[in-house]
Amino acid sequence: MKRMEAEKLFADLVEGTRQQTPVPFIERDAERVLAAIQTAAVFWEVVRLSNVPMRFLCDFCNQLINGDLVVASDGKLSLTDKGKELVEALEIAPVQEGICNACEGRGIDISKFYGSLIEKYSEICKDRPEAIQDYDQGYVTEATSLASVSYAWQRGDLENKEIIILGDDDLKSIAAALTGAPKRVLALDIDTRLIEFINKVAEREGLKNLKAVWHDLREPLREEWLKSFDTFMCDPPESIVGLKAFVERGIMCLKGRGCAGYFGLTHVEASLSKWAKVQKFLLEKGAVITDLREDFSSYVNWDYIKEMRSWSWLPTKALPEHLWYCSAFHRIELLKDVEVENPRLGENIFDDEEVATN
Ligand SMILES: [Fe+2]
Repeated sequence: MKRMEAEKLFADLVEGTRQQTPVPFIERDAERVLAAIQTAAVFWEVVRLSNVPMRFLCDFCNQLINGDLVVASDGKLSLTDKGKELVEALEIAPVQEGICNACEGRGIDISKFYGSLIEKYSEICKDRPEAIQDYDQGYVTEATSLASVSYAWQRGDLENKEIIILGDDDLKSIAAALTGAPKRVLALDIDTRLIEFINKVAEREGLKNLKAVWHDLREPLREEWLKSFDTFMCDPPESIVGLKAFVERGIMCLKGRGCAGYFGLTHVEASLSKWAKVQKFLLEKGAVITDLREDFSSYVNWDYIKEMRSWSWLPTKALPEHLWYCSAFHRIELLKDVEVENPRLGENIFDDEEVATN
């Protein structure tokens, strides 16, 4: 295939996808998908490696399939001869991965912070409540939770600090309290199963600084939580409304300047346009992103994969066998004092055009 012919074909594919998809889609996104398909066959691996929203990844894959550039079956994608000619003519290289085996790419050694407590935490997590779709749950691996807390410790946001966790299906409150380092750990969640579980663990393990309280984050926060913590952690829904709601509530809980917050954001359900909105929102709130770790958090495959909305978009359907849903770990720090608006939010904070796992 000649370069000019390939460029024309590529431009048509991008335009065709743009017309199909409600999410902003650019040439670089198409390149990312073609790079990932060269490295991995399994669809879920392509999702992970391409770092693009599933919404337009699926739309673009269907364009590729209709154009005889890709064949899809049994949950796998592969380039046809014509597809191979296209990527060669366009000089799109495969994705290269060099993840450190020791830390799974997180850049932190949890054994230095936890030692034998790693096993203790694992034992506690054995009886955890399973993720349910009602609250957009899906929890991270144990190593992710321990690494998040270790990371906060390393950044001076844990020891002798007061920590609030807004939504804790990841059981990070337990991971934090187990270290004995924080002055206080408070977990808020809407799921009574989690509240009971965390409080039972706190009692059984003698973790006096740990407490879980039922709270629906659509509702205003209690007065006693406002401006009362040094650090917040949350794993917000990926809709822009939900994300802002969680992070904004987190910020409201901080005592003021110099306090820090942690949250995750994916590519699976958030385009770079959404990332830009989040970053603008943070700056408006007086917060600056100090640390950003790509693919820090890995999520354990949840039971409701076939019920999530993106199942119907898939170019080929098969359940994932490995971890594929990852998020980028963000640390923010406040540059100015907190302005508390504490509104009640609308019913549906989980939805927007990019959301895939509802
Ligand atoms: Fe490493």
